[in-house]
Amino acid sequence: MKEILPAPPPIVRNDAVAIRELFNKHVIPSYGRFDLAFSRGAGSYLWDLAGKRYLDFGGGIAVCALGHSHPEITEALIEQSRKLVHVSNLYYTEPQGRLAQALVNRLAPGKCFFCNSGAEANEGLFKVARKFGHEEGRFEMLTAQNSFHGRTLAGISATGQDKVKKGFEPLVQGFRQVPYNDLAAIRSAISPATAAILIEGVQGESGITPATPEYLLGLRQLCDEKKLLLFMDGVQDGHFRTGRFQSFQRILEGTANGASLIPDGISMAKSLGGGFPIGAFWIRQPYADLLGPGTHATTFGGTPLGCAVALKVLEVIERDGLAENARQCGDYLKDQLLQMAQRFPSVLKTVRGLGLMIGIELAPNIPVLQREEKEKAQSLQFVNRLHDAGLLTVPAGLQVARLLPPLNLRQSEADEGLKIIESVVAALAGS
Ligand SMILES: Cc1ncc(COP(=O)(O)O)c(C=O)c1O
Repeated sequence: MKEILPAPPPIVRNDAVAIRELFNKHVIPSYGRFDLAFSRGAGSYLWDLAGKRYLDFGGGIAVCALGHSHPEITEALIEQSRKLVHVSNLYYTEPQGRLAQALVNRLAPGKCFFCNSGAEANEGLFKVARKFGHEEGRFEMLTAQNSFHGRTLAGISATGQDKVKKGFEPLVQGFRQVPYNDLAAIRSAISPATAAILIEGVQGESGITPATPEYLLGLRQLCDEKKLLLFMDGVQDGHFRTGRFQSFQRILEGTANGASLIPDGISMAKSLGGGFPIGAFWIRQPYADLLGPGTHATTFGGTPLGCAVALKVLEVIERDGLAENARQCGDYLKDQLLQMAQRFPSVLKTVRGLGLMIGIELAPNIPVLQREEKEKAQSLQFVNRLHDAGLLTVPAGLQVARLLPPLNLRQSEADEGLKIIESVVAALAGS
């Protein structure tokens, strides 16, 4: 067969510069990328093209629940791809049914829809809310300031951060943001058009801020009273990251009515596939059939391959007690970091989070960061220094570095990460 286009030239210099050139020429520049290019990973470590090893506390932004190149994920991919990869949602397949059952069993009676990302999972929740309120002319969803719900047009409309909306107006109608953890504010924001509330149990992108138990319990009461759906965005804080399957379960531990709180819908993605792209949303009964045949669809949603991998991730997390590990390792890291903040108050303001979702908030105006690259956010400068020292973390907002390591993090790796953080913090304090 005659070739229509000439074959692309091979990468002759397989190095970071050549790869960066490819990106500069051919990839839409919508991401602010770090100057790092990785070629392989194993467990909690990544290696760049020059062979430098990094301890990965970013975890692909809360995705790599079992770390990198987990042999059982590889095995599940191989085994399922030998049998069946994709058939479309015109047909039934066993892995999708079994994954839906597994997720429902960990929540409450209801049903799941499978998709490909967190934004798409939230999009599903938006549509359920619209269907729910439609006959009464209710369509509005209240979300929180500083929230993050994805980059689709409806996702940025739901998100409570102006920076993601700028330049994309007009936004999708029917989303309003109210202060987080403020019951009085959300109560007074409810209008006759309001159909639902959507919040994160722990706000991730804006700097790791957990909801209070009173807020969650109050929201449930408010939604019951006003006939609103209560949705939780569990994309980042879900899938055992906080030490329980969903963050609201962890937040409500030990409260009098906590065990009885059940949201009406939850979006999931990120860790669900441990690196394989899969998202989902769960809807509680009696609302689980609101989206009837023909009302919602996505070609790649719930493929046998994606669901087989997600089932394996779930199996390994539970078999190996990784929720408990996330809780213990997370408590240990947080505790040690809080002590570090006491030793270096000129650099670290505070540390917060739940399980392996931890935010390190920097002190304002750290002299050396103000001097050297004043135009860059402190969080970014701090993360860059951690990178240089061999630790990957993720900035959240202007002042916070996020730790989202794999749920199977070892104690020795936690200690190694702490040592690197302390070396960077001490250097900043001393200069
Ligand atoms: C809470 C939350 N919701 C939704 C999303 C969007 O997920 P995705 O990037 O998979 O579309 C994210 C991504 O960071 C998130 O943190």
